[in-house]
Amino acid sequence: TNDPARGGAGPEHMLGRVGGAAIVVEGARIAWVGSAVAAPAADARIDVGGRAVIPGFVDSHSHLVFAGDRAEEFEARMAGRSYSAGGIRTTVAATRAASDEELSANVARLVAEMRRQGTTTVEVKSGYGLTTRDEARSLAVARQFTDETTFLGAHVVPEGVTPEAYVEEVTGPRLTAAAPYAKWIDVFCEDGAFDVDQARTVLTAGAAVGLAGRLHANQLTYGGGVRLAAELGLAAVDHCTFLSEGAVDALADSGTVATLLPGVEFSTRQPYPDARRLLAAGVRVALASDCNPGSCYTSSMPLCIALAVREMGMSPAEALYAATVGGAAALRRDDVGVLAPGCRADLVVLDAPSYLHLAYRPGVPLVTGVWVAGRVVGRVPADGPLAAGHTW
Ligand code: NIG
Ligand code: FE
Repeated sequence: TNDPARGGAGPEHMLGRVGGAAIVVEGARIAWVGSAVAAPAADARIDVGGRAVIPGFVDSHSHLVFAGDRAEEFEARMAGRSYSAGGIRTTVAATRAASDEELSANVARLVAEMRRQGTTTVEVKSGYGLTTRDEARSLAVARQFTDETTFLGAHVVPEGVTPEAYVEEVTGPRLTAAAPYAKWIDVFCEDGAFDVDQARTVLTAGAAVGLAGRLHANQLTYGGGVRLAAELGLAAVDHCTFLSEGAVDALADSGTVATLLPGVEFSTRQPYPDARRLLAAGVRVALASDCNPGSCYTSSMPLCIALAVREMGMSPAEALYAATVGGAAALRRDDVGVLAPGCRADLVVLDAPSYLHLAYRPGVPLVTGVWVAGRVVGRVPADGPLAAGHTW
């Protein structure tokens, strides 16, 4: 349930597990959670046969508004070429050439793919338009699918513009056009993209028109982005692969969520971020997919959980918590990521007796039922118990 009222401190307890449980849903919300034998009467009943039920995943970082793909870039990378921010421009050209309908169809396809894998809340960024028209329409498309939309006009400096002139555009007309469709503002703060001063300028301009800040930082180098995020008290700073001691301390003090994106390290053959160091320092950690056509083209939160456990030393409980409550915190949401009365009824049924199977059975499509706001959006398992021999 992730319900603090049921859980406790420490990795084994924080999930607030309930055995033999029932959940009562009323409309879009959870009305009751507890042991099935004590459940109140309900109009209809679904028996999931002893399967594990978890909160839907909260994927707090994705770039779904784009056209085309970069499979050749991936192939070259697997042959030894390294990832650089410059590849973004390939997708910018394809996105500008696409119609609104094409962009919308691509987002619909990816959101459906995410839902099949248990994601029930998703943040979506612009950032492949990089003109006023293309950023605004990217966000308008994203808004058709989620309220968690992020203006990432400062993704990279497009060809033919100086960085100074570009920052002026992003903080001027582009921000004005994007703001009605966005909740958040983000900057790619990295070598080859925007430096700390430019990021500060963009985030400050966003805050002035009511867009809360988040940041891409320390993905490829030990830059000052993470410290900037902590200093500005941003909701989240994402990637966090290369961190100095000072940066870790700053995160712990600020309460800014460190969003780790292990699919990126998997797909770019980079070292993984040090999750244990962050957790030990008391930093709040989220896991997200970063689904995008360049650095990481997976939409799978179960894959991210498996990588976090296998490659980053997180326990299965820590990884599930980071992929649900962690993502919710990164979006400053307390109505998702938790199964407790009053929360949105976003439920995922696994064809497994326990959440442990998410990491234990990597690559296996275990998600078998998905509800968003009390409505079934994915297949519901037929009545009938799990195969014999499983332990809870
Ligand atoms: O989060 N880091 C910046 N943006 C994306 C990559 C975008 C791309 O390569 O197209 C990321 O990894
Ligand atoms: Fe990203």
